[in-house]
Amino acid sequence: MRKQQDIHTVLIAGPGVMGASFAQIFAKHHYQVYLYGVSESSLEKAKYLISINQKTEVEQGVLTAEESAALLGRITMTTSKDCFPKADFVLETVSENMEIKHAFWAELTSVIGEDVVLATNTSGMSITEIAKAVKCPQRFAGMHWVNPPHLIPLVEVIAGEESSGEAVDTIYDIALSLHQKPVRVYKDPTGFILNRLQYAVVREAFHCVEMGYASMEDVDSVMKYGLGLRYACIGPFETIDFGGIDIFNRVGSYMFDALCNDGGVPQLLREAYEAGKCGIKNCNGFYDYSEGKDKLALAKRDAAFIALSRALYGKEDT
Ligand SMILES: NC(=O)c1ccc[n+]([C@@H]2O[C@H](COP(=O)([O-])OP(=O)(O)OC[C@H]3O[C@@H](n4cnc5c(N)ncnc54)[C@H](O)[C@@H]3O)[C@@H](O)[C@H]2O)c1
Repeated sequence: MRKQQDIHTVLIAGPGVMGASFAQIFAKHHYQVYLYGVSESSLEKAKYLISINQKTEVEQGVLTAEESAALLGRITMTTSKDCFPKADFVLETVSENMEIKHAFWAELTSVIGEDVVLATNTSGMSITEIAKAVKCPQRFAGMHWVNPPHLIPLVEVIAGEESSGEAVDTIYDIALSLHQKPVRVYKDPTGFILNRLQYAVVREAFHCVEMGYASMEDVDSVMKYGLGLRYACIGPFETIDFGGIDIFNRVGSYMFDALCNDGGVPQLLREAYEAGKCGIKNCNGFYDYSEGKDKLALAKRDAAFIALSRALYGKEDT
């Protein structure tokens, strides 16, 4: 099985929000990248996202214009499957749908060498289940990133039932080679660790709005100016140590029972989806992204992440 140092050419399958970022990250760290999509229009969207990200990175001094141009020169966008057998490593980031993922992996692994390490960026679907369509599944594991991946360092490396330690180690080493912060996740839990934590927060956020405790804007503010800033610096267990195990135990005695414990998708989220809202990607979300506000919002978010990263780690890519 190939190790990180044997990997030079990477196939990113799925040129969406995540794939567009992955292409830039791998190219920035001198990998040759194929960004593969099923339609020209999906590649056009990726080009648009990449141009916004690169403009911000150059404006913020993360990259020079020359470095940005060189990075873009290492990315080949294609709808042709001819790139499949040329890859030394494959990161799949196609739509979050088991049938689509199975169809992709079955086709890819029928034409690619058996020593090529393979990873999926599923948000939380079972790695073991996705692996059922993979020929030689011991070289396959999860590699879960956080949006926007070119600015957020965490990568969860998840072993499915069939994943070998060697494949997990190679994916972990690839994350290190990209200056990311990998963690290992065992037992393939739904949502891994990050999304288990995130969806607990999201459920409670919708609950607070649905119950009329606060507006969406104010719930977002509680996160941005309160918990979010704290959690950028210390995790929940460190927080409890700083706050006092006795205090958390006492407050927990009434808090845990007061939290939302509903199953299913929160009503406000479901209704927004059913009304055709997809967020920034179709300029129709909980906030207004019409008339170019999407570009401004993306640039503002990226500038904030870069500033925070610089403050915490001293450089942009940790
Ligand atoms: N967006 C996030 O915040 C986020 C974070 C972590 C993980 N993920 C996961 O990453 C994956 C992609 O998410 P996204 O947000 O980029 O989605 P997206 O909808 O923006 O992009 C998906 C892309 O996959 C393409 N696609 C579909 N079938 C394909 C195929 N067979 N071959 C090649 N391309 C194909 C679509 O045309 C589209 O360009 C999903 O599994 C998602 O759960 C997303």
